[in-house]
Amino acid sequence: MLKKSEKKNEKKREKEIDNLVKKLTLDEKITMIHGASLFRSGAVERLGIPAIETSDGPMGVRAEFMDDRWIPAGNQDDMVSYLPSNSALASSWNTDLARKMGHVLGAEARGRGKDVILAPGINIKRDPLCGRNFEYMSEDPALTAALVVPFIQSVQKNDVAACVKHFAANVQETGRLFVDETIDERTLYELYLPAFKAAVQEGCAYSVMGAYNKINGAYCCESKTLLDRILREEWGFDGTVISDWGAVHSTKEAAACSMDLEMSIFSDFDEYKLANPLKESIKKGEISEDAVDAKVRNLLRMMYRLKMIGAKKDTREKGAYNLPEHREAIRRTAEESMVLLKNENHALPLDAKKIKKLAVIGVNAAKVHSDGGGSAEIKALYEISPLAGLKMYLGGNIKVAYAPGYYVPVKPKTFETNWQAASLDELKNNTVGQMVRNELGENEEHIKGEQERLTQIERDKAEIHEKNPELFKQAIALAKDADAVIFVGGLNHDYDSEGFDRSDMKLPYEQDLLIEELLKVRKDTIITFVGGSPVEMPWRDKAQAILWSYYAGMETGNAFANIIFGEVNPSGKLAETFPQKYEDCATAKNGQSGAWDKITLEEGLYCGYRHYDRQHLTPAFCFGHGLSYTNFEYGGLTLKAEKGKDVKLTFSVKNVGKRAGAEIVQIYIAPIAAQVDRPDKELKAFAKVELEAGRLKKVSLTLKQETFMHFDVQLHKFIADAGDYEILVGASCQDIRLRGIATLN
Ligand code: BGC
Repeated sequence: MLKKSEKKNEKKREKEIDNLVKKLTLDEKITMIHGASLFRSGAVERLGIPAIETSDGPMGVRAEFMDDRWIPAGNQDDMVSYLPSNSALASSWNTDLARKMGHVLGAEARGRGKDVILAPGINIKRDPLCGRNFEYMSEDPALTAALVVPFIQSVQKNDVAACVKHFAANVQETGRLFVDETIDERTLYELYLPAFKAAVQEGCAYSVMGAYNKINGAYCCESKTLLDRILREEWGFDGTVISDWGAVHSTKEAAACSMDLEMSIFSDFDEYKLANPLKESIKKGEISEDAVDAKVRNLLRMMYRLKMIGAKKDTREKGAYNLPEHREAIRRTAEESMVLLKNENHALPLDAKKIKKLAVIGVNAAKVHSDGGGSAEIKALYEISPLAGLKMYLGGNIKVAYAPGYYVPVKPKTFETNWQAASLDELKNNTVGQMVRNELGENEEHIKGEQERLTQIERDKAEIHEKNPELFKQAIALAKDADAVIFVGGLNHDYDSEGFDRSDMKLPYEQDLLIEELLKVRKDTIITFVGGSPVEMPWRDKAQAILWSYYAGMETGNAFANIIFGEVNPSGKLAETFPQKYEDCATAKNGQSGAWDKITLEEGLYCGYRHYDRQHLTPAFCFGHGLSYTNFEYGGLTLKAEKGKDVKLTFSVKNVGKRAGAEIVQIYIAPIAAQVDRPDKELKAFAKVELEAGRLKKVSLTLKQETFMHFDVQLHKFIADAGDYEILVGASCQDIRLRGIATLN
């Protein structure tokens, strides 16, 4: 509810907006609603309306590009703090850190002179192979919503708009520019939309990015259902909708719905659908000028909120980038993001005092990742690799021997590796770019491109196979000769990337073979990974310790060393399921993996752990799983349904180990007498509880009535069935420690 004074201000603002709209000519209005450069909208200087400066992206403010070419400007002042990816942030389950990361991103965006930061990415992870999963948070809408709200709020405290993306259900990169997804309404409302709704209603995001894909036959950037009915009417969004780059296909459709700012990968800005073609259509009387006015209003409203215009202009936040406190917050987030998947015989932490020679094996030990991944790439001020972090921690007092262990074909980073640049080039050759331009549903060229990529992978495999034996030999020799061995493998942005999905869930570069060999000679080898999405770990029963790190930002190496040597007690938990094998996934079962032009989300709500529960499948590591160097005991659950609506629960968590740690407690509900088919259990709340050794804390949480609801398609609204619900308190989705029953009237 707005306060009286706020209401008055809003009224005044809307009046000013109306006045401005009246003063603008059609040409000027059209200038404002499409890109005038690759990352900037058009300005109207005559009336003091500035251009809107946008920038990627989710892991830090992307380097400057030339105005009309996908070539870095080559500046020396655009390196920034490299933030943990959203997948890393999500595995911290820490809303306070989400707030801090939002602040860093917002301050740095402002520091770099940006108005809109094209982040956060919050699509639900439907399939572990999706190339951009590393940019997203979770397979679960409640966890995503809980983290995205503080993130957005603190981005925007810096007078920078968050542009939450990609609205909606951008669940795969394969065919992302045109894939048509059939999604039933309930699944959409219960799984793919809630985090966006929270972003808009609670986070108050000033802008939303429309996705490339189609939902139920309509492009997301041209969908009246998505943009008008759901976003504006049902959720009350009055900010700006920005198209993904090149996601607008039709002047008529985009003009007729709430698509406010068309951005694209092309440099013929006047030919954008919402540029000259729109002007022509208006002149011919096919489209009313009112449609343009509505878009301009939404843009101006965002500009007022950002203090780009209006009376508060001089009070706009100044921003700052590369501050030491940004790096400090990034390190803490990295530390809390790393997930200890397995730790038998107290293999971790290592005791530096007992080691004279440490062997570090694996390419990801020495690799930096900030410069890859598509639009999430950034020019980092610095990035500390795990190897550098270990060496810095040990300070030269212990011999650290490194061997890559396996061969990774070098992919030189060229401008062409940027999909946007490649699309432009290909436009000339009548391929991808032409397809986007022509709004084709055909995808032969795309498939050809994908086939070439796969052929290259096969060629690479042959080269890897030829070079690996020697590298394996070196690594094994090193391992045999050391007091402790750490393997650092995983993925990189040749796999976790925009524009394509992985073709399987296996570790590339024959890493499985090397790990098997290492475990044969040293069963105490500490297996660690840096990667953006789950991999199969067929040898996992043989390993004593497995540590997973997502792309965790510039301080990855320091965080890594702190965990390995026990300076920090790991407290991250998985925000997505790690399946035993890809074939277990719902998407694999549908046989839809890799489908290009049409998919049906047949599994419905049964995505991630909801699928594993229903199918009684045991994943390798389940949603919510993560170990600590200490242990926690849960007890004393009491439940009270207040007025038969909200359920208040209290329980205690005790640190029964010898060191301080933090436990993420998870509350799931399992409807007992549901009137409709519902997932066996769903996450509804969580808390991260910090505890000194031996200490106990009481946790109190309230489950609001809304959390018990499901979407009723007939009534077109969320309803809660009366009856019994089992409340499960767990250390993971499979490690349920406490149970109780709550009854709703
Ligand atoms: C991506 C967006 C990104 C935009 C601008 C698109 O290809 O999907 O996430 O913000 O490019 O770089």
